Amino acid sequence: MTERIIPIADARYNAGTPSVPENPAPATGRLADAHGRMLRDLRISVTDRCNFRCSYCMPPAVFDSNFQFLPHSSLLTFEEIERMARIFAAHGVEKIRITGGEPLLRRNIEALIGMLAQIRTTADRPLEITLTTNASLLERKAAALADAGLRRVTVSLDALDDAVFRAMNSADFPVADVLAGIDAAAAAGLRSIKVNMVVKRGVNDGQIVPMARHFRGSGHIVRFIEFMDVGASNGWRLDDVVPSAEVIARISEHFPLEPVAAQYHGEVATRWRYTDGSGEIGVISSVTQPFCASCNRARLSTEGKLFTCLFATAGHDLRSLLRAGYSDEQISGAIAALWAGRMDRYSEIRSEATSGLRRIEMSYIGG
Ligand code: GTP
Ligand code: 5AD
Ligand code: SF4
Ligand code: SF4
Repeated sequence: MTERIIPIADARYNAGTPSVPENPAPATGRLADAHGRMLRDLRISVTDRCNFRCSYCMPPAVFDSNFQFLPHSSLLTFEEIERMARIFAAHGVEKIRITGGEPLLRRNIEALIGMLAQIRTTADRPLEITLTTNASLLERKAAALADAGLRRVTVSLDALDDAVFRAMNSADFPVADVLAGIDAAAAAGLRSIKVNMVVKRGVNDGQIVPMARHFRGSGHIVRFIEFMDVGASNGWRLDDVVPSAEVIARISEHFPLEPVAAQYHGEVATRWRYTDGSGEIGVISSVTQPFCASCNRARLSTEGKLFTCLFATAGHDLRSLLRAGYSDEQISGAIAALWAGRMDRYSEIRSEATSGLRRIEMSYIGG
């Protein structure tokens, strides 16, 4: 039986309220952590709820009708999120990814996108705003999101076959509707659409080649993701992981591939392109080839805790600073101190250090 996990609002995820420096130095747009990794990417989770129950993320046996999601009062408001985003942008963040749970379940999410789209980076460019969604509401929302200033979107889709999709995602939802959501996003002008497929051996690995076949030539980029041991409830076993090298080998048998150089420092996916020019794919190999050495990502949870690693067990309670009336400069100084002390590199060590602890769930912090 799956062990019951502690409700996510549990205080055990709380690393406490960060200390605020007396005389914070102004942000310079360059913040290095203890391993010299510069802060560039902020992921903001806007809800811990989701209408799917993917086995690798929110297994239905754990996230059942008794599961205690965060109460609405704990969520950061849009104004609080925007304020945090501005402070992070001044520290060098260039990209913000909105995640969940399922972010499109947050009411009026397009209003938040509109607010974030106004923020400029330290290089005086607009922040790159993107979003990861299961696409269940995308067909309905794509135009409003694009109008609000969203430029890109990433859709989670683990199979083209309805039966496999349902077995993996416990979603009472046809694949055709996810595909319609992707089409709506493209029609609304969202560019470089990516499709994330988490691969689990024996469950959906038979869909690797069909997914590659379906999306080649479409302009959309499928990324095959190694099933990760994130959280404490998904029953992860190494045997369930299909190494990216095997994914590449399987696709190459049908459609020859060649490697492509990374587009930017710290890119999570390794890129490959079809030799016949019909587009590219990516593989995300956090199990077999961890990428912690270039990890520039910070994560802000739905209720305003800062996590410096996907595999963290506790986050720093920035919401209490926001609500205690600290100035932007003081909160900025607190964030700088936290990032400066960051040592995380979980995927590289995958140590016993956190194995007995309640690591945060992916649905709580987002991909
Ligand atoms: P682009 O902006 O399109 O390049 O997206 P991205 O590379 O930031 O990828 P995305 O946010 O879509 O992440 C894809 C998947 O990679 C996530 O859902 C996770 O499964 C995994 N992933 C992303 N970031 C991390 C990370 O910091 N650590 C680990 N271990 N996995 C990550
Ligand atoms: N392993 C790998 N990726 C995961 N995601 C969620 N849980 C896992 C996991 N255990 C990612 C998927 C999905 C996104 C929302 O989170 O990429 O598309
Ligand atoms: Fe929901 Fe995405 Fe998690 Fe699936 S992976 S349960 S769609 S948040
Ligand atoms: Fe970054 Fe932690 Fe993922 Fe490593 S395991 S890449 S440090 S989030």
